[in-house]
Amino acid sequence: MTQTPKIAKKGPYPVDVTAGKSYFWCTCGQSDNQPFCDGSHKDTGFSPMKYEAEKDAKLFFCGCKATGKAPMCDGSHNKL
Ligand code: FES
Ligand code: FES
Repeated sequence: MTQTPKIAKKGPYPVDVTAGKSYFWCTCGQSDNQPFCDGSHKDTGFSPMKYEAEKDAKLFFCGCKATGKAPMCDGSHNKL
C-alpha cells in the first residue's frame, strides 16, 4: 500500500472558518469534498487531521497534501 497522498489540487482551498468549529482536513487527497475529509480514506492508511478554528477567518487549506505546515498551504505546491 502506498503512503503517497493524491494531489487533489496544486493549490490551496480558501475557506471561511468559524471560531470554535472543528474541521477535518483530508490528508489522503481522495475526498470529493476538498479540502475536507468525506470518508474516502477508508483502506488508504490515511486519516483526517482535525483543525479547530480559534477565530473567524479566511484560511488557505492545502490541496496538494505536500505542505510542511498541515493543514494550511505553505507554498510547497509550487515545487510539485
Ligand atoms: Fe499544498 Fe499549497 S496547496 S502547499
Ligand atoms: Fe482523505 Fe478522509 S477522505 S482523509
